[in-house]
Amino acid sequence: MLSDSKWSAASVVFPLYGWPGLILFFLLLSGGLPVRADGLFFRVEGDALKEVSREELARTLSLKTLVTENPTTGKKATYQGVDLIDLLNLGFGDRWKRYDAVKFVSRDGYQPLMTPKTILAHRGLAAFREDGRDGLNPFQRGRGEMVDPGPFWVVWDVFEDPAAKSDPWVSWPWQLVGMELVRLDLEFPRAAPPADASEEVKRGFTAFLQHCVKCHRINGEGGDIGPELNYPVSVTEYWQPAWLPKFIADPRSVKWNSKMVGFYPGVQNREAIIRDIVAYLNVMARHKIEPNGMSQSEVRLRFETQ
Ligand code: HEC
Repeated sequence: MLSDSKWSAASVVFPLYGWPGLILFFLLLSGGLPVRADGLFFRVEGDALKEVSREELARTLSLKTLVTENPTTGKKATYQGVDLIDLLNLGFGDRWKRYDAVKFVSRDGYQPLMTPKTILAHRGLAAFREDGRDGLNPFQRGRGEMVDPGPFWVVWDVFEDPAAKSDPWVSWPWQLVGMELVRLDLEFPRAAPPADASEEVKRGFTAFLQHCVKCHRINGEGGDIGPELNYPVSVTEYWQPAWLPKFIADPRSVKWNSKMVGFYPGVQNREAIIRDIVAYLNVMARHKIEPNGMSQSEVRLRFETQ
């Protein structure tokens, strides 16, 4: 449930004394790399449009409260932040609704895409407060690694809108640092299958954009949590065909300590979608294009200082 509440005095003055602590925390988390953490950037097709500081958010948008499920713990959590639609309107004006997708850029290399239709159909919040306090509670991932989801975490109402859980375009990017409007044909010229590809392969590409490209690159295009999957050698060339779908469906059934998340357990036609994705990967193995020289994520390049 999204509800309005007033900005507390504490949240407005927070930037004055809260950020140094948070930035120090980032320094510790990022192994000493200075990271700018005081706002969000907005980009359109690769070009910078503007940056909005937390202070400006506080002045312009109203603070909302959302009680929903924390997807990492499965427990009920109370978040505060700004309505995602208000935020996109503030950053881009109305034009974001006419783009193919909004790319969310996270500090850790995660880059999910979401369509305007999906964003408008559900209730998302760019959260930066939890349990009435500034900042978001860190959580434990895998065996011991602590993750701070701040500065912003896009969270969704799943109590009043359970459909958000099964919408294939819904993602929950944490460590959000910016958003970009993208046209899919321009964003993925190297990862797109050839124009004469079969329907199965085209479906596989769409499913790859929904579920995989946020963490993986194909021919150099995509997110940076997992490895490149096509260049110079495609995974379909060194994985035995029977094991690839098993790994995609349930990574830990193949690699005990895999860091990959299994493909949505609840999704309809799960096996057929995985087959389509593998068909797409097989076709891309015959369409290798050398990445254009950028080996680090744009995020890190942008947020590192010498
Ligand atoms: C949240 C990030 C994330 C998502 C989403 C994700 N992966 Fe991964 N993937 C990883 C990571 C991290 C690895 C590294 C290996 C490991 O930890 O098992 C990996 C490994 C792989 C590998 C093995 C690569 C190799 O060289 O052996 C394949 C194949 C793969 N992923 C395919 C996919 C497909 C297909 C999808 C979409 C259905 C997907 N992944 C979604 C993070 C992700």
